[in-house]
Amino acid sequence: MRADLALVGFGNVGRRFVTLLAERRTCLQRDYDLDCRIVGISTRRHRAAFSTGGLDVAAAFDCVSAGRLLPDGDRPVNTAADVIDALGTSDAPLRVLIETTPLTIADGQPAIAHIEAAIDAGCHAITANKGPAAFAYRQLSERARAAGVSFLFEGAVMDGVPIFNLVREAMPAIAIRGFRGVVNSTTNYILSALEDGEEFAPALGAMQAAGIAEADPSLDVDGWDAAAKTAALANVLMAADLNPRGVDRTGIGPETADRARSARARGNRLRLVATASRSISGAIQATVGPVELASDDLLASLRGPANALVLHTDLLGDVAIHQLGGDLTMTAYALMSDLIALRRTAA
Ligand SMILES: NC(=O)c1ccc[n+]([C@@H]2O[C@H](COP(=O)([O-])OP(=O)(O)OC[C@H]3O[C@@H](n4cnc5c(N)ncnc54)[C@H](OP(=O)(O)O)[C@@H]3O)[C@@H](O)[C@H]2O)c1
Repeated sequence: MRADLALVGFGNVGRRFVTLLAERRTCLQRDYDLDCRIVGISTRRHRAAFSTGGLDVAAAFDCVSAGRLLPDGDRPVNTAADVIDALGTSDAPLRVLIETTPLTIADGQPAIAHIEAAIDAGCHAITANKGPAAFAYRQLSERARAAGVSFLFEGAVMDGVPIFNLVREAMPAIAIRGFRGVVNSTTNYILSALEDGEEFAPALGAMQAAGIAEADPSLDVDGWDAAAKTAALANVLMAADLNPRGVDRTGIGPETADRARSARARGNRLRLVATASRSISGAIQATVGPVELASDDLLASLRGPANALVLHTDLLGDVAIHQLGGDLTMTAYALMSDLIALRRTAA
């Protein structure tokens, strides 16, 4: 089955996704009867391109890597909206928007508008951006259902570790009563470094140099990234109606060093913990902030970029998902696994 893909966002994740598709081309064709073509690309600074027969992805890759404009396709397009409209006219049985623009913490835009446009054009939408599930999960999933398409976002939390797919596919009829976890690698690395006696600024610098910190690192250290992930998890797994501003949030800074070191001196660990729980009234409370944990707590054992999420379930007790490290390949894999999920449900 042919899948025509339009990439809105062609940065680190978008580019790794296209190389991963090429690496797994044989597997996708042989095991899933999936033949993918990149027909459209939209960026902020390198303009946009669309070609009905498929773009020359290697040329696009080289242009963007070298800071040049994308080469023209066979159809004039200027914006993400143009590219999505053009995707909607494709005759491929699977038409999919791959959305990888950066998170805007104020309102989740423009990613939400890109996904709405794809759904309205009869295309499936896959994103690694946390914004859509954190700000508009209910609205987007209902819109997609009404249009007979899918809205998937496995890469939005813990890279390629299949949290949403795990609950959706492997935990039927289970209620998630709450969760607690460490879901931001940059702050976990910094807290580990602070308790080892290192300073805040060089620890943050190491995460920036490794490409793990957000482009605006205040999103990490002020707890916004974790709050967006918490809202997304609560919305999807617990049917909450939260956005990141509804999460009770405390970040970390250079002044956190004393707390991290004194916790360590007591044999404990300070970690940025994300939680969600349902009160007796049914309301969902969500928090993000530094918490001193006993050393035998699973979350206390997480060092450096490691993440973990403990789901409190009604039938399986506590289920923990532990990620030792994350990278671009894992996020690109999340996009590819969502694409395979679409193929499995396509007629
Ligand atoms: N990097 C990771 O390891 C990771 C892990 C999990 C999730 N994510 C999420 O994945 C998304 C992408 O991350 P990234 O690291 O690939 O970011 P990135 O390298 O900054 O790339 C972002 C891309 O989006 C484009 N863009 C920005 N605004 C746009 C607009 N209005 N219309 C069209 N294109 C636009 C940029 O174009 P220009 O290059 O022209 O500016 C760039 O191509 C983010 O939401 C991030 O939070 C990333």
